[in-house]
Amino acid sequence: MPGPHSPSASSSMVEDICSMVGAVTIVLMIWKFIRFIRLYTRSSSIKRYCKGKDAWALVTGASDGIGLGFAHELARLGFNVILHGRDPTKLEGVQARLQQNYPEVNFRIVVLDASSTSHKQIDKLVASLQDLHITVLINNVGGGAKISPFELLTADEVDAVINLNARFPTLITRALLSKLTKSIRPSLILTIGSAGDPVVPYAVTYGGSKAFNMAWSSSLKLELKAEGNNVEVLAVSVGKVTETAFCKDPVTFWTPDGRTMARAALQRVGCGKAVVVGYIGHAIQKFVLDILPASVFASVVSSHMKMLREKERKKQKKR
Ligand SMILES: NC(=O)c1ccc[n+]([C@@H]2O[C@H](COP(=O)([O-])OP(=O)(O)OC[C@H]3O[C@@H](n4cnc5c(N)ncnc54)[C@H](OP(=O)(O)O)[C@@H]3O)[C@@H](O)[C@H]2O)c1
Repeated sequence: MPGPHSPSASSSMVEDICSMVGAVTIVLMIWKFIRFIRLYTRSSSIKRYCKGKDAWALVTGASDGIGLGFAHELARLGFNVILHGRDPTKLEGVQARLQQNYPEVNFRIVVLDASSTSHKQIDKLVASLQDLHITVLINNVGGGAKISPFELLTADEVDAVINLNARFPTLITRALLSKLTKSIRPSLILTIGSAGDPVVPYAVTYGGSKAFNMAWSSSLKLELKAEGNNVEVLAVSVGKVTETAFCKDPVTFWTPDGRTMARAALQRVGCGKAVVVGYIGHAIQKFVLDILPASVFASVVSSHMKMLREKERKKQKKR
């Protein structure tokens, strides 16, 4: 009979441990899969922010792309919508079309250039909305990244990207926050970020600003919860979206249009996470990218961005 220290006893112990680890891994994978399916099939709690006919949502960067998609989706749900942008003529056209589609809700326009504004102007803008019951803030405005080596950018170009993507959402939230926390109604602050790793060579300030958005929003979520406030804070990361100002590629499962992206983001409201990938196609892409070894991921991202940089350089040469 083999003793407890014989070679066959220890090999069967190794087999037992391996099958236990295998079983635990399979259970964990099934658990993760169920959670994934649940996240993308659960019903949204966005309607809790739209009780009564006087609930308003403020959407920054609402004249195009995903922001315009948010304006449509929120109006469809019965919210009155404040449309923020920088071009009054474009905003007026958008407002007229929205009003035609949703005659039962109200729209208002606010104009402010998010890349060069002072905090006093932001405070003034928010003060002009004091008469409205704002229950939802969508921090959508962003982008504006020039694909270029960092050292070739001017200080003004770097400033503009930080202002547009990080400073403006931070300051407009600060200006609005006491109104939200003092309200007896629950409210929502939803901030748009960029999907996956914020490591973006040739758009390094954009990547850094988007990483800031995610960390800032997650921290604010915990702080407001610790203070006992009734404000949901959610950061939604976004992959490639088409029918936006800079992308007119065909719509596919992997590349939704702005409205589909906005609907998906609103569908995630109430999920309880600090950061969520809004659209299921982007979540699958992120899952695959996360499996890649870091060195393979780095080389894929670098060569893709380098190729975009080359395209941009050729375009500039032709001008
Ligand atoms: N599209 C994507 O593939 C993608 C991927 C990841 C993350 N995102 C993020 O998603 C958000 C929306 O992107 P998008 O693709 O929908 O952008 P978009 O189509 O370019 O629309 C941006 C919106 O913001 C406004 N805007 C731009 N600069 C502004 C400024 N300086 N001051 C005031 N308003 C300004 C635009 O106004 P005008 O109409 O006047 O231009 C427009 O209403 C951004 O935060 C972006 O970083 C997008």
